[in-house]
Amino acid sequence: MNRKPLLIDTDPGIDDAIALAIILHSKEYDVRLITSTAGNVGIDKTTKNILKLLKFWNLDIPVAKGCARPLVRPEIDASGVHGDSGMDGYDFEEPDERLLLDVPAAVAIHQKIQESPDKVTMMAIGPLTNIALWLRLYPEDKEKVEEFVIMGGSMGRGNSGVLAEYNCHYDPEAAKILFDSGLPVVMMGLDVGLQALVYPEDSAKIKTFGRTGEMIYGLLQRYRGKGLKQGLKMYDACASAYLLKPELFGYVNAYVDVETSGAPPPRQRSRSAKRAPPSPFPGRMRWTPF
Ligand code: RIB
Ligand code: CA
Repeated sequence: MNRKPLLIDTDPGIDDAIALAIILHSKEYDVRLITSTAGNVGIDKTTKNILKLLKFWNLDIPVAKGCARPLVRPEIDASGVHGDSGMDGYDFEEPDERLLLDVPAAVAIHQKIQESPDKVTMMAIGPLTNIALWLRLYPEDKEKVEEFVIMGGSMGRGNSGVLAEYNCHYDPEAAKILFDSGLPVVMMGLDVGLQALVYPEDSAKIKTFGRTGEMIYGLLQRYRGKGLKQGLKMYDACASAYLLKPELFGYVNAYVDVETSGAPPPRQRSRSAKRAPPSPFPGRMRWTPF
């Protein structure tokens, strides 16, 4: 089978590590580059975490270090969710830096796209700062992108404030640049990840999957402050799952915009609503069909 060229931008991050465990070992994709972005933790830690994972799996994939902070706003951090290292819960060996390229992420993405005789697929599972810079520097690359899948955004509530999803909240200006770019973006939002939960019984089964299973089991015990009992959302892994089994998901074509001024979303025009049927669940939210 011809493996499709794939470029990955990520901020490991425990759920990033799980997403990488899935896609880096697939037979469908040939991962040509992994770029680090700041997000869950700082850029030095996310870069080191990528190198740690590649050493753990003995994989020779070039890595390029990305932006240390958002385009406009101050940095935020999610070490409370992923631990101070960004991947607490497993004692990784110190990585070697030989896989680290001496060009920044945006340039490395351009180089790998231009080197590829075929169109590439791209997956971004962290803030989109590197992607925005790459698009501003090399817009001509867009015609060589087959598909762009992200973990980001939400069709409903946020997880970083009421309406904001973390990756987009970290750098909304960057997210807006991607969504306005005309690239074929597939958005795996929070609403998808909220249906992809791992519970203690699942983590016990994962633990039996060899040394990678043991590593992921350790990470899951730490992820989201030991929230395993409530079910851990596998946000980033949904992007990997889409690439390997798109049939697992339903899709809607939608116009996506990103609010960057902090104003509340425009009010929906009120429409004549039919009277809601009597709720079968007294006391629960009632719905009004339009
Ligand atoms: O909102 C979830 C996203 O934020 C995931 O990519 C997670 O790794 C964090 O970066
Ligand atoms: Ca991530």
